[in-house]
Amino acid sequence: MYTSRISGLGHFVPDNIVTNDDLSKLMDTNDEWIQERTGIKERRWIENGSPETSASMGAKAANIAIEKAGIDKDEIDFIIFATLSPDMYFPGCGVQIQEMLGLPTIGALDVRNQCSGFVYALSVADQFIKTGMYQNILVIGSEFHSGGLDVTTRGRGVSVIFGDGAGAAILNRSDDPERGILSTHLHSEGKHARELTVEGPSIAHWVPEILNNPDDLSYYPYMNGTFVFKNAVVRFSEVIMEGLQTNGLSPSDIDMLIPHQANLRISQFVQKKFSLRDDQVYNNIQKYGNTTAASIIIALTEAHEKGKINQGDLLVLAAFGSGFTWGSVIIRW
Ligand code: ACO
Repeated sequence: MYTSRISGLGHFVPDNIVTNDDLSKLMDTNDEWIQERTGIKERRWIENGSPETSASMGAKAANIAIEKAGIDKDEIDFIIFATLSPDMYFPGCGVQIQEMLGLPTIGALDVRNQCSGFVYALSVADQFIKTGMYQNILVIGSEFHSGGLDVTTRGRGVSVIFGDGAGAAILNRSDDPERGILSTHLHSEGKHARELTVEGPSIAHWVPEILNNPDDLSYYPYMNGTFVFKNAVVRFSEVIMEGLQTNGLSPSDIDMLIPHQANLRISQFVQKKFSLRDDQVYNNIQKYGNTTAASIIIALTEAHEKGKINQGDLLVLAAFGSGFTWGSVIIRW
């Protein structure tokens, strides 16, 4: 069996900064509420009229990751694209990236696992590499949330949280069993699917039904925030412990935890639970909000660029989100 290691990272966020004060001009909200409940100060939203999309942002992040990995794009064997905001209902963004980057006719897979999307995508890529099927896999997480949010007071419980952005990693085959992805653990609990969802349009609830009913807002995200929060703190902790224990490790072995950026309060809860110092948990939700499938990979790229992850470090990635789905990745860097 081979080991997979991350050999290149890249991220892209739109230039347009939307502050909490900017949002308070659109809806009944305020900077104090948003910061106190979520930690978010600002987020990036694609400007109205911009041609940017999940696929195009993903392509920009991918180009950086490919360059950092020092490979030619023709050496990429497979694409995995995680998003809940694809450019089209179908086909998925994976094939768009294949075309945008001018890649040969390699396979392209989309992962629809919301905030856990990048962790799931990394886990799938890891399996393909471990078994020797592929050598270099391009893994992308990208979200264009702002185009689909209810930016009136009605939608304030959700719309203030989400931001746009993309990140990408090249996962590369290695012969070194000591370094790279040590394990991934994935979970789901579909009975809570409707606690955090965009229900329409879907085949079960198609466009004419929505158009015929002005009160039908099923195309906007719905979130039972308190319920999601309570589940998140439990599942984050469980799945991190599961990953550590599988590898005979304990929380004191963690050098860096990069949690999905759902809410700064969730990250702080997990930090406290595992007695981690501030410099052992990387958060950037303050600047970007929750970028769902992009959040972990944007945070990982930034933390790496800032020199916060060093060779030999034990890195833990963990995510929880709609589905519910959750997961962890344990990496020896
Ligand atoms: N500005 C001002 N007031 C607001 C806003 C806002 N933006 N949003 C809601 N409120 C009000 C509500 O109307 C409510 O008022 P009321 O008491 O008069 O009814 C009050 O604030 C409290 O609302 P809650 O929803 O109970 O607020 P809560 O403290 O739960 O915070 C939050 C909401 C931040 C969304 C939190 O529940 C949370 O972070 N949940 C988890 C999110 C998460 O982890 N998501 C998973 C990943 S996302 C994915 O997978 C796609």
